[in-house]
Amino acid sequence: MRVLVVGSGGREHALAWKIAQSPRAERVLAAPGSDGMADVAECHREVAAADAEAVLTLARTARVDLVVIGPEDPLAVGMADRLREADIAVFGPSAAAARLESSKSFAREFMARHGIPQPRFAVFDELEKARAHVEAVAGPCVVKADGLAAGKGVAVCDDGAHAGRALDEIMAARRFGSAGDTVLIEERLAGEEASYYAITDGERIVTLAAAQDHKRALDGDRGENTGGMGAYSPVPLVSPAIEARIREQVVVPAIRGMAKEGTPFVGVLYCGLMIDAHGAPRVVEFNVRFGDPETQPLVVRMRGDLLPVLDGAARGALDPSAELGWEDAAVCVVLASGGYPRDYAVGLPIRGLDAAARASDVVLFHAGTRRGADGRFVTAGGRVLGVTARGGSVAEARARAYAAADRIAFDGMHLRRDIAARAT
Ligand code: AMP
Ligand code: GLY
Repeated sequence: MRVLVVGSGGREHALAWKIAQSPRAERVLAAPGSDGMADVAECHREVAAADAEAVLTLARTARVDLVVIGPEDPLAVGMADRLREADIAVFGPSAAAARLESSKSFAREFMARHGIPQPRFAVFDELEKARAHVEAVAGPCVVKADGLAAGKGVAVCDDGAHAGRALDEIMAARRFGSAGDTVLIEERLAGEEASYYAITDGERIVTLAAAQDHKRALDGDRGENTGGMGAYSPVPLVSPAIEARIREQVVVPAIRGMAKEGTPFVGVLYCGLMIDAHGAPRVVEFNVRFGDPETQPLVVRMRGDLLPVLDGAARGALDPSAELGWEDAAVCVVLASGGYPRDYAVGLPIRGLDAAARASDVVLFHAGTRRGADGRFVTAGGRVLGVTARGGSVAEARARAYAAADRIAFDGMHLRRDIAARAT
């Protein structure tokens, strides 16, 4: 099979790396891909991940059998619809189904319609009314921009003053542009976070495993929300009994609900969950694509062949008995640019990549790098690398990931030191 991966980040590197290992993969292409993933995919740098027409043209000229869309933005604007209209098999939801991620208010109202457990919430499109609401709540709450904001449009607030500042930033200063024209104010849930993944063709389901990412920039879950500073899988907290509850109360009603509403969901449903002290899951968010960086530990743990599962889902013929099989554990530590998630410098030389890549059971996924004029890698994004290791336990994988990360350096490099610490 010829497979085209759309995107250029660490998640897409991880997907291309995994797909390239499939005996069924004859050729793996990426649009645009990156210098760092050129060893696993033929990268078409001229094709932007957001450009549906260019992706379609490439899929046709290269006679691609399957397109796997990595990021949420092209899904939100209908890239999957466009490819499907042209009879190209595509792993990823329609724009209508992608609203589970692209509109947080749509997702909350959908969950309410289908009895999926979630926090209390209210939706506002006027700053004054939103302000009055947080003043009335007068305690902890969560303020969210309705639309896509690269994982950064969420403020977890301790009190009304904090929430007021978040509202100003989102609605008055419009830090996230039109994504913040509507806001949600949610009950602030307590518990442990985990995410859970289910691949579906709209009807049949193959569940993957639980993972946990670390969204805050600094150790101890301090600092701002980011796209994710690291991730690990499995999550010991998610016992088989809790996993069964997640399937029954979240995954199945969501996938059935989307089909019933006439917008069947095809692709991977990412369930961001808060698990309370009694093991009850509630949905923090749905995403409509693989997690970044959660995909990095998931594919490094995954023994089986992912490609037939992606392809089956894309063709409406998913084999629900597919067993992917999992290694014990994997941990991904993100090396970020100093200043991320706000401003940061790029073009800084990265040292130690070869030494880190030689470590056994370690895979380096490139998130934001490019080759400089001398052919060596330099930084090119906020999240630069995802140093991912497998091990016989989360503790072993974690030790390997940090040992490899410590061989890498660039000016201003920032990493969290407590990735997966909770699970060891
Ligand atoms: P989201 O982009 O919706 O996943 O939110 C980013 C992060 O904010 C989540 O991973 C949680 O850590 C936190 N968060 C979001 N919603 C809530 C909530 N209702 N209660 C507590 N924490 C939340
Ligand atoms: N790591 C969070 C996300 O992919 O949305």
